[in-house]
Amino acid sequence: MNQKEVSANVAGDVSLGGMISVHRIGFGAMRLTGEGVWGPPKDRKNALAVLRRAVDLGVNFIDTADSYGPNVDEELIAEALFPYAKGLVIATKGGWNRPGPNQWTHDASPAHLRKAVEGSLRRLRRDRIDLYQLHIPDPAVSFDASVETLAQLQKEGKILLVGLSNVTQEHIERARKIVPIVSVQNRYSFADREWDYVVDYCEKNAIAFIPWFPLGAGKVAGETLNRIAKANHRTPMQIALAWLLQRSRVMLPIPGTSSIEHLEENVAAASLHLKPAEFEELSEISALVS
Ligand SMILES: NC(=O)c1ccc[n+]([C@@H]2O[C@H](COP(=O)([O-])OP(=O)(O)OC[C@H]3O[C@@H](n4cnc5c(N)ncnc54)[C@H](OP(=O)(O)O)[C@@H]3O)[C@@H](O)[C@H]2O)c1
Repeated sequence: MNQKEVSANVAGDVSLGGMISVHRIGFGAMRLTGEGVWGPPKDRKNALAVLRRAVDLGVNFIDTADSYGPNVDEELIAEALFPYAKGLVIATKGGWNRPGPNQWTHDASPAHLRKAVEGSLRRLRRDRIDLYQLHIPDPAVSFDASVETLAQLQKEGKILLVGLSNVTQEHIERARKIVPIVSVQNRYSFADREWDYVVDYCEKNAIAFIPWFPLGAGKVAGETLNRIAKANHRTPMQIALAWLLQRSRVMLPIPGTSSIEHLEENVAAASLHLKPAEFEELSEISALVS
């Protein structure tokens, strides 16, 4: 692989609320924790090396959450990268409790969010969180109350920018009446298009769209993807990422991996341009699988 091509910089930039810009290939750090997004990584040295390599490759947007580990992911990021490189944006989230491996219970109450932000600040060793995302609306808490809490924490200078995750357009519109929303993080890939209308809404309103599960957890494949990958001398994962980057100028994929080799492969997708016919063919797959 041509080392020159392997830089997140090549993907171009996306603005977060007109205040900061980041390269359009980020890194999702969730996969660095132990089995079931619980506890420490199997290989701590490797997890720290993956984070450092991401930054070497020009990645300047890292996504995490207090619930990954819990706490472990944010601690690993600080251990690997503090003092942080200039311009490195760390986005974290709150709104879940973690009773055990693979277990997630809602809590986006004002008291919980306030405590969560304080915890993230401490673990990330920052005075202010660059981007704080409501991880998911809590069915037992008023959505407006959760967002109002983040707006208040922004006013207090503890959060620079506010984002949402796992939301509908209605949520985004309601939240924007309370505080500027700079990003939306929903599950999305070429084969998983439930949130197409939210991508369009974000593009129209200059809100970054952060697709999670951008690779379908390594399982996206299929005949079409493999054929297009072969024709481009690339891997199926790189094709899936290239499709996302071409889908919208506000798209900010955060592929997650615990492998340096996969990380390099994913970042190298930034230089790939699909032909219009290839893009269209992949775009039609979701209609076939749904
Ligand atoms: N907002 C939310 O509710 C939410 C939910 C889930 C995730 N997220 C965020 O989104 C990020 C990405 O999502 P994700 O980790 O679930 O899914 P993903 O990025 O689609 O997939 C990660 C999986 O794919 C494998 N993989 C990565 N690159 C590969 C490559 N080049 N070739 C082959 N396999 C590869 C990884 O295994 P290896 O480790 O073996 O490479 C891992 O098992 C997370 O890290 C997290 O930050 C957010």
